[in-house]
This record gives sequence, C-alpha cells and structure tokens, in this order.
Amino acid sequence: MSIRLAPSLLSADFSRLAEEVAEVEWGGAELLHLDIMDGHFVPNFTFGPPVVRAIASHSKIALDAHLMVTNPDDLIDDLIAAPVARIAVHVEVCNHLQRTLENIRAGGVEAGIAINPASALALIEDALPWTDFVLIMSVNPGFGGQDFIPETLDRISRLRQMAGKRPLDIAVDGGVCLENAASLANAGATTLIAGSAIFGVDDRASAITDLRLSATVGGVR
Ligand code: DX5
Ligand code: ZN
Repeated sequence: MSIRLAPSLLSADFSRLAEEVAEVEWGGAELLHLDIMDGHFVPNFTFGPPVVRAIASHSKIALDAHLMVTNPDDLIDDLIAAPVARIAVHVEVCNHLQRTLENIRAGGVEAGIAINPASALALIEDALPWTDFVLIMSVNPGFGGQDFIPETLDRISRLRQMAGKRPLDIAVDGGVCLENAASLANAGATTLIAGSAIFGVDDRASAITDLRLSATVGGVR
C-alpha cells in the first residue's frame, strides 16, 4: 500500500478555510482530515456538519471525518449526505460498534475506528471485518501541535500483524512530522494525518511532498 497524506484542517487558518483547503488539494493531498469535537468527549470544540457541507461543496478532495464526540451515531447521516468519503468513530464511546460501522458503510462511506493511545488494541480486533481503516491516535485527542507518543510505533506494528492479510488502512494521527514519517511507514502506517507539520508552514505543497518523500524514500515499504 502506498502512503496517503491527510492534512488536518484543525491547524489551518479558520478565517480563510476555502483558500486553505484549495492549497492542500492543489498540493497533492489524497484526503482532507476534519476533526469534529463536541467539548465533551474532548475538551475542545471545532465544527459540525454545516461546515463540512460547505467544504464539500467548494472542493473535490476526499473528506476524512474524525468524530471526537460522545454520540457519533447522531452525526453519521448528515456526514454521509455532506458528503464525506470516510468516517472514523472512537471505540471508547461506541456501545454498538458493529452497527455503527455497518451504518457508515451502508451510506457508501468507508468506516473507520479511532483508538486512543491507552486503549487496548484487543478492543477492535473482532470489529475488523466491518472496518476499512483504523485511526491510531498518537496523542490524546483534542488539540493540534502535541508531541508524538513514541509507543505508538509498536502499536502500529501490532495492529498490522493483527490485520494479517486484510488490506487494512492504518492511519496515524497526532504529532506526525518529517522526523517520524519513515518510522511510521516502516511500522505499517499507510495514511499520515498531519496538522501543524502541513498547515504550520508557509508552503503547504512542499510540506506534503516532503512528508511523502520521507515516508516512502526513508521507509522500506
Ligand atoms: C487531535 C486531532 C488531530 C490533530 C493533529 O485531536 O485528531 O487530527 O489535528 O494535529 P498535529 O498534526 O498538529 O498533531
Ligand atoms: Zn484527527
């Protein structure tokens, strides 16, 4: 699997969203990562379906919704309609994960499970048949610009082993940067989500290219 880059809009300038999205779309990013926060599951708020709809109608880039909310089921229909390409729900809040994943897939959208740094990978093992991607958090969710938790590398390798022959996309989210991109790819990550490493620099297109190069040239996959 080749590496995909997903700039996280959380680190963009919210006063010029359309230009920010256009810059990373033009810069070659495969996905645009959208962090939806409710101030309850995480101690921060961002935006919801109306903003996602606006972004969808002004760009062609595939949208990757990461739901950091206590009641993700309430948002799924609106996000499918937006439309988004992928939705990740946190395993820590889904009491009926199989049903939630099936509902996402029924809308023609890829279904993902997001998992916090201290949650056991065993929690998602039996849900893999209904899962298109796993979003491994490499920071505690809620804020951009936090330091990468190094133990994540081992978790990615273990998840890749757990997936076996299944073509599971493993996305990593939090503190992704030029210094760790190759190790992440080597451990088995296939999608790199990066906020400050892309929107924190002036030339977003170069930041995307450099991250991709680090992950593919520095990596062995
Ligand atoms: C954190 C979010 C991330 C965040 C990553 O809760 O889920 O998507 O934007 O930002 P960086 O890359 O700056 O750590
Ligand atoms: Zn995220």
